Amino acid sequence: MAYIRIPSSTRVIADVPNICSFLQPHGIHYDRWQVAGRTGRDASEEEILEAYAPEVEALKERGGYITADVVNVTPDVPNLQEMLNRFNQEHRHAEDEVRFILKGRGIFYIHPENGDPVFSIEVEEGDLINVPAGMKHWFDLCADRTIRAIRLFREKAGWTPLYTGDAIASGYQPLCFGPNYLVSKGIRIEQGASIAA
Ligand SMILES: [Fe+2]
Repeated sequence: MAYIRIPSSTRVIADVPNICSFLQPHGIHYDRWQVAGRTGRDASEEEILEAYAPEVEALKERGGYITADVVNVTPDVPNLQEMLNRFNQEHRHAEDEVRFILKGRGIFYIHPENGDPVFSIEVEEGDLINVPAGMKHWFDLCADRTIRAIRLFREKAGWTPLYTGDAIASGYQPLCFGPNYLVSKGIRIEQGASIAA
């Protein structure tokens, strides 16, 4: 389950309806795909894409995506930090950044153009997120430095980071928190449909 955190207000949103309604005005699509009973998250790329073909094909049709692949990042990937440094500074892409998380955790920071405060989305297994083309954002892995995800593309070249040159990312902690940390700090976690987003 994803968590949205708004650092300027210590607000945290942690349930699907409120996550969706918070993200919708920003053009960010969030969904949960069922992972229980599916092909193991360590299966081959071909097996993964076959297992999730119904969801992937529906998403391709809805978003105009052409191809899908599976990215696999582990702590022992050569030059991992160099790779992460490409994405942990503010950038945009010419096309949507669409990820379905199979394994591991990561954190997107979103910098809205409309003046709304920066917020983060921490994603994990079962989360689908679409950061739309042109949106200012940055990304980092969580402490386990592991992520396996299905990616969808219109054209892979469109995923090249276009840096804004703004050092804003350095002002935010590249940390994932998770529910236990948040509760230990007394941070209120919004859950349940009765809480307005
Ligand atoms: Fe990105």
